Amino acid sequence: MAKTSRTLPGVYSEPVVSSSDDDTRPELADVGRLVRRGVRGVVGAARAGERVTLSSLLRDHLGADSGDRAVVEEVWPQYEQVNLQAGVDAWLRAAPGTHELIGVVGFQHREFGLAELLLGSGHHGLRPGNVARINLASGPDGEMSACVRCGLYLISEGERRSAALLRGGERHEPLTVQVVSTDDAYALRIAAEIRELAVVHNVFRKQVLSFGGEVFGHGETLLHFHRRPAMDTDQLILPTETLNAVQHQVVEVARHKHRLLAAGQHLKRGLLLYGPPGVGKTHTVRYLIGSLTDTTVIQLTGGALHLIAEACSVARTLAPAMLVVEDVDLIAEDRGMHPGHHPMLFQLLNEMDGLAEDADVVFVLTTNRADLLEPALAARPGRVDQAVELTLPDIDSRRRLFDLYRGGLDVDVSRLDSVLERTEGVTASFLKELMRRAALLAAARDGTADGPLAVSAADLDAALDELLDTRNAMTRVLLGAGENATPIERVGLA
Ligand SMILES: Nc1ncnc2c1ncn2[C@@H]1O[C@H](COP(=O)(O)OP(=O)(O)OP(=O)(O)O)[C@@H](O)[C@H]1O
Ligand SMILES: [Mg+2]
Repeated sequence: MAKTSRTLPGVYSEPVVSSSDDDTRPELADVGRLVRRGVRGVVGAARAGERVTLSSLLRDHLGADSGDRAVVEEVWPQYEQVNLQAGVDAWLRAAPGTHELIGVVGFQHREFGLAELLLGSGHHGLRPGNVARINLASGPDGEMSACVRCGLYLISEGERRSAALLRGGERHEPLTVQVVSTDDAYALRIAAEIRELAVVHNVFRKQVLSFGGEVFGHGETLLHFHRRPAMDTDQLILPTETLNAVQHQVVEVARHKHRLLAAGQHLKRGLLLYGPPGVGKTHTVRYLIGSLTDTTVIQLTGGALHLIAEACSVARTLAPAMLVVEDVDLIAEDRGMHPGHHPMLFQLLNEMDGLAEDADVVFVLTTNRADLLEPALAARPGRVDQAVELTLPDIDSRRRLFDLYRGGLDVDVSRLDSVLERTEGVTASFLKELMRRAALLAAARDGTADGPLAVSAADLDAALDELLDTRNAMTRVLLGAGENATPIERVGLA
C-alpha cells in the first residue's frame, strides 16, 4: 500500500492521503476517525439543546408557567441613573432572602423586556454574561458610582420568586426597571420601594448641580456637580437694606421654616434679582448657595432652559432646594409661535405655581432685562414674591469694594477720595479690575521680580485714567460700566 503524505507549506492540516487503487477499503484508522466524528456531533447537538439563555434562566427561576405574569415597568430619566442604582442597591441590601445578578450581553439597540424574555421568543445575540458597569459622577470631587448597564436580578425569598431587569445608560434609550414576581402584588411593591429608596439615597441631595444640554446635541441631559462656594458676607458688598431683603426671602425663611409652617405660612418663594450687568447678581447667587449648606441647588443656564420641568421635579423631590435660573430674560425671549407668547417663561411660572405651598423650594431668578419680564410676571402674580434691584454701587459701597479687592495689598490711599468720586457710575467688577491694574502698574514700576507690591497714589490714578480712557470704551462695556460711566467728562478731565 503506497501512501504519500504532504503538507502544504505554512498550512497546518491533516496529512492528505493519496492512495493507490485499493484505497477505498476501510482501515482501522478510518473507523476510529468515524467514531470520533460521531461522538462530537452527538455531544454538540445535546449541548445546543440545553444552552443557558436569559429566557431559560428566568423560567427556571420563576417557574415554567411564568410566561403570562404581569410585568411592572418604571421609566426613569437618564440623568437619574445613579439614583436608580442607589435605590436598587438599597432595596437589595434590605430585602429578605437572596439575590443573584446576571449581566445581559448584546442588549444594545435592542428592544426587549422581561415579557419578551419570559416568552423566550428569538432574541438573537442576547445572552447572559458578565455584568457591565458604567461609572457615573456622584459628587463634585470626582466621586463616581458604578451603575449596571443592563442586568437581571433574580430574587428568591422562600417560595416567592421575583426578577428585576435594570436597563440604562444607552443613548436615546430610556432607563427602565421591570419587575415580575410569582406574587404580582409583590412586583408592584418592589418597583415602588425602589423608587422610594432612590429618593432616600438620592446622590443629588445637598449637592450643587447644574443642568445642561449636550453642546452637539444628542438630546442627552447633562448634569454636573459643582463645589459649593464658600463666601463670607463681607465678600458681598450691597447696601444693607438690599442684603437684608435677599437674606430674609431666602435664608431666614429656610431657618425658621418649622415655626412658619406651624403658623400656617407658606415656604415656597420666588426672588428676582435684577439690575445692570456686573453689579453682583451672580455673585449674590453664589453667596446664597454658600450660605444654604443643607439645600440642594439646581442651576439652569443658557442652553438648558428647556429642562425646567426636570429641574423643578428634582427640586420638588429633594426639598429644601433652591432652583436658580440665571438670565431668565433669555427664557422670555424664547418666543412661541405668536408674538408676545413666552412658552418657557410661562412654563417656569406654572412649575412654580404647581409646587405645594409648604415645599421648601426657593426660586432665584436673575436678569438685566427686567423690562422684558415685567408684563409676563404681572400677568401671573404671586410666583415671584420679591424683586430686589441691585444697583450700581454708591460711594459708600465703592469704598467697601475698594477695601475688599485691595485685600492685603499695600496701597497709598491719600488720593482715594478723588478716585472714588471719579468712579461714580461704574460697577463692582470695574473696581475689581481697577485694583488689579494698579497692582500691575506698581509691579512694572518697581522692576523687581519678587517682594511685596506697594501701590502708590499715582499708580491708582494711572490705572483709573487707563480704564476711563475713551480708547477703553469697549473694556468698560465688558466690565459692565455701561453708559453711566462717562466720568471723564463729568469730572472735567477730558
Ligand atoms: N456686590 C458685589 N460685591 C462684591 N463683588 C462684586 C459685587 N458685584 C460684582 N462683584 C464682582 O464682580 C464680578 C461680576 O459680577 P456678577 O457676575 O455678579 O455680575 P452680574 O450682575 O451677574 O452681571 P450680569 O448681568 O452680566 O450677569 C463678580 O464675580 C465679583 O467679583
Ligand atoms: Mg450674572
